[in-house]
Order: sequence, then C-alpha cells, then structure tokens
Amino acid sequence: MPAPHDPAAWQAFSQLINARRSTRGYLPKPVDRALIEEILSLASRSPSGTNTQPWRVHVLTGAALDRVVRAVCAAYDAEPGRSDSVIYPNLEGEPYLSRKRSLGKAMYSLMGIGKGDTAAMHAQRRRNFEFFGAPVGIFVTVDKALGCGSWLDTGMFMQSLMLAAKAKGLDTCPQGFWVHYESTIAQAVGWPENERLVSGIALGYADPAVPENTLRSERAALAEFAVIHE
Ligand SMILES: Cc1cc2nc3c(=O)[nH]c(=O)nc-3n(C[C@H](O)[C@H](O)[C@H](O)COP(=O)(O)O)c2cc1C
Repeated sequence: MPAPHDPAAWQAFSQLINARRSTRGYLPKPVDRALIEEILSLASRSPSGTNTQPWRVHVLTGAALDRVVRAVCAAYDAEPGRSDSVIYPNLEGEPYLSRKRSLGKAMYSLMGIGKGDTAAMHAQRRRNFEFFGAPVGIFVTVDKALGCGSWLDTGMFMQSLMLAAKAKGLDTCPQGFWVHYESTIAQAVGWPENERLVSGIALGYADPAVPENTLRSERAALAEFAVIHE
C-alpha cells in the first residue's frame, strides 16, 4: 500500500492517466486470454453503490468477433441512420456542442477527411463497427432494471479496465456508437433479454502508423468545471 502523498505513486498514476487515449487503429496482434482475464479481474475492484457490481462484459475474439462485426457492419450498411438506443441525449447546447465539434474537426483533419466529405465520414464511422481493427471487442452491459447509479458504476468499471489495459501496454477505445445497433448485437452475441448495452470497448495494441492515434483531445480548464466553495 503506498503511503499518502507518495510521489512515486502520483507520478506513475498521472503518467497512466495521461497515456490513455482513445485509440482508433490497432495492430493485428492477438491479446493473450490470461492477460484479458487479469485486466477484467483488476477492473472489478471498481467501486459500486452498495457493492452491487452491476457491470457485465461480453468479450469477443477470433471467429466470434468476426461474426458480430460482419452482422453489425451489414446492419449499418443497410440502415446507416438507425438508432436502437440513445445514451447521449441533449448535446446540442453549449458548451457540449463546441467541444464535440472541436473533437470532430481535430480527428477528421488528422485523417485527411475534408468538411462535407460524407462518403469518407461514413467509412470512418463504419470503422467503429470493426472495433477499429482491434483483436478484442468488449461489450459492457447492465441489467435493464437498474438505473443511472448502476450506469455510473459501470462507467467506473470501464475506466478501470482502460487504465489497467494501458498499464499492460494495451490500448482501448470506449465506443458508445454501438448502442445504435443494439438489437443486432444482442442477437449476434446472444446475451440474456434483461441486459442493456452501455458501450463497446476496443482492446488491442495501438498501430503507431495510424495518424488519428496521435490525437491528444482537449480538456476544459479547471475553472470551467470546478467550483471550490470555501
Ligand atoms: C462512453 C463513451 C463512449 C464513446 N464512444 C465513442 C465512439 O462511439 N466512437 C469513438 O470513436 N470514440 C468514442 N468515445 C471516445 C471519446 O471521443 C473520447 O473519450 C474523447 O474524445 C476524449 O478523448 P480521449 O479518450 O482520447 O482522452 C467514447 C467515449 C466514452 C467515454
């Protein structure tokens, strides 16, 4: 157990937090099953309301991953505007809209996709449904009966998972986009009726040659989100 104010622990932890970034291109290098299990087990130390641990994960690799990717890409091609579920409503107001636009602009510029190039944007969105080429695809679900507190718990689990992966030299991308095709995924993966999709997570080894992997997303200054009442 590190002592409080342990500088080495702070340095290691801040390095880890800063090193994690959403990674949208992967090497075709498999991830050992033992490593996946170790990361998931550590992530399960995340806190949850009354220790309910509401998260469930479906990990896909190999043929299972290919099958689901094929099914969802086919659904996306047939119906690109489908939206089975919405997890991010009301982002049209400020400051959310500007932040969203700023991310999109930075990403598309790195990818060389010009404004109004809808075909290239469609192709890029489609990469979501291939887990950006990651060798491991994870679906995080929660019991449909549970509320926003349990979704919050599940988000904490996701962040622990992504940091644990980073500490093992792996990269990730959380992907809410998948929820638009939830019914296709639920059927292709075959999870129980009571589970609702929270997010996908791509997991694998980052491809250093992919330009969008160099993106360092912006953050608002402390004064924009924190009020210290004294
Ligand atoms: C719940 C959640 C869902 C997300 N969904 C997507 C997604 O569908 N596709 C994508 O490319 N990035 C997705 N992201 C990644 C965000 O765009 C990213 O976290 C944000 O721009 C900050 O960048 P960073 O993760 O590199 O720090 C998602 C992030 C979260 C937390």
